[in-house]
Amino acid sequence: EGDRPLAGRRVVVTAGGTREPLDPVRYLGNRSSGKQGYAVARVAAQRGADVVLVTSAELPVPQGVRAVPVETALEMARAVEQEAVGADVVVMAAAVADFRPAQVAGHKIKKTHEAGPDGAPDESAPTVALVRNPDILAGLVAGRGEALAPVVVGFAAETGDEAASVLEHGRAKLARKGCDLLVVNEVGAGLTFGADESTVHILRRGSEDVLDVGPASKDVVAGALWDAVAELL
Ligand code: C5P
Repeated sequence: EGDRPLAGRRVVVTAGGTREPLDPVRYLGNRSSGKQGYAVARVAAQRGADVVLVTSAELPVPQGVRAVPVETALEMARAVEQEAVGADVVVMAAAVADFRPAQVAGHKIKKTHEAGPDGAPDESAPTVALVRNPDILAGLVAGRGEALAPVVVGFAAETGDEAASVLEHGRAKLARKGCDLLVVNEVGAGLTFGADESTVHILRRGSEDVLDVGPASKDVVAGALWDAVAELL
């Protein structure tokens, strides 16, 4: 206890943007830096937790944290499924690709394709078909039971629009995803991916209260998140 309130707790954190291969040298990716997920893992370890970080980012692994490197959403889903068994908390900070290329070419896709039946080289642009990736968070929530009953925390990057505010989008997502806490990240307007500071709103299922944090460092955001989780443990 004291300054190690998570002592004896097993936590799983995901971080980074997944990379979905097109061929041996190319992938579809996103701008997630992984910094927030690493901060969540670092602060949990500082507070005494046994931490597994399932990561598609390549940042230095925080002290006392076990990293499980993954690349794709499917790899991340498998790793989370394994590591979540017996976990007390799962925090999904990763930016998981919603779609992946339907086919991964075995060889580098060429700019000019092989000559067709008429002998002329094919200069047309290829079309990339996509298929949906599983929603890892939704899968965890759906699978909760005796053996798998962790507190589940989601992240959501939201922008306000004419129809609804960042918070309204966040509330709808919390209800849809069924997680216990949702950390809503304000994005857009100078609040870019990879920044060292962020502004978040922490929403809790079944409560109208909103905890506003920031602009603050990602470690401060992580601290506020673990304070909120501690109330649910
Ligand atoms: O719906 P949206 O992608 O905004 O939800 C974000 C949350 O869902 C994050 O916690 C993210 O890690 C998780 N997620 C997931 N699997 C996906 C997509 C998102 O676990 N395929």
